[in-house]
Amino acid sequence: MIDSFGRTIDYARLSVTELCNLHCVYCRPYEESPPCHSMPLKDITTIVEVLAKLGVTKYKITGGEPTLRADIVEIVSTIKAVKGVKNVTLTTNGLLLDKLSAPLGQAGLDAINVSLDSLDPNSYRRLTRNGRLEPVLAGLEAAYNARIPVKINCVPHSSLTEQDLLDLAMVAKERSIHVRFIELMPIGPAGELTGHAPDSIFAAIERRFGPLTPTTLAYGNGPASYYSLDGFKGLIGFLSALNSCFCERCNRIRVTSDGYLKTCLHLDKGKKLNMADKEDLEQTILKAVQQKPKRHLFNTPDARACDRPMNRIGG
Ligand code: 5AD
Repeated sequence: MIDSFGRTIDYARLSVTELCNLHCVYCRPYEESPPCHSMPLKDITTIVEVLAKLGVTKYKITGGEPTLRADIVEIVSTIKAVKGVKNVTLTTNGLLLDKLSAPLGQAGLDAINVSLDSLDPNSYRRLTRNGRLEPVLAGLEAAYNARIPVKINCVPHSSLTEQDLLDLAMVAKERSIHVRFIELMPIGPAGELTGHAPDSIFAAIERRFGPLTPTTLAYGNGPASYYSLDGFKGLIGFLSALNSCFCERCNRIRVTSDGYLKTCLHLDKGKKLNMADKEDLEQTILKAVQQKPKRHLFNTPDARACDRPMNRIGG
């Protein structure tokens, strides 16, 4: 699909559940009543069949926390089997990845993003409101051993120290795991919070590890910029939606677990999808893509316009 600004839309992020086993301070509102929507597997299949027909070849399974779905392995193999689908990846907090990595690899999962903000158990517990770091590290190890390409996503919330961020970057030294710093976006509870500026993280990494050399290759589906460091096996990535808006290259749409199509993470309230009628679905998607906003308005007085917290969008 091509939108009204000439952007090719070939990537969809599918939130398969709103449930999450963490409560990260910048993602999930503290007061929230338990989120409950999950998308039935038959609806996931229907939407992927329609999207694939319309030229969407790449899929990211998101949540909430997608590994809380008992049928997560089946979700992966089902999406992989749809004609036209080329790439299926998953974003997870990694808590349940230890046992799941091998079956997910066998189901054909192409890559995993693990959300991990700190290697310090206390920082981790604080940011996730009581999460345990140990199972996440076991999950990372398992994914690596299952030979699934792994990236770490860190949201550098201001409660983390520069040392926390440098320690995390070090993961990319020993292993070919890419470590990405995702600028905090003012969505949901994050509207009240601040994060480390991308420039200051960049400078701290260069001070400690030497020059970051830009790579020309693009990895994954998205707009991150990647850099190599001498002596590091993995790359360091920066995804800075506010600092360096990349909306003109946006290739994505999102489907929420309660069945709404969002064409912009920030601005679009979403169109309710009728999973019972493929013809109707196709028309709704084509029309919505033509109305995809030109860019987010995070840097304007409309910054609070987002209708959902991140745990109900899927990142
Ligand atoms: N700003 C930036 N990234 C966020 N995520 C969740 N909330 C925010 C926010 N306000 C990230 C998670 C995960 C990804 C899916 O989205 O940490 O890595």
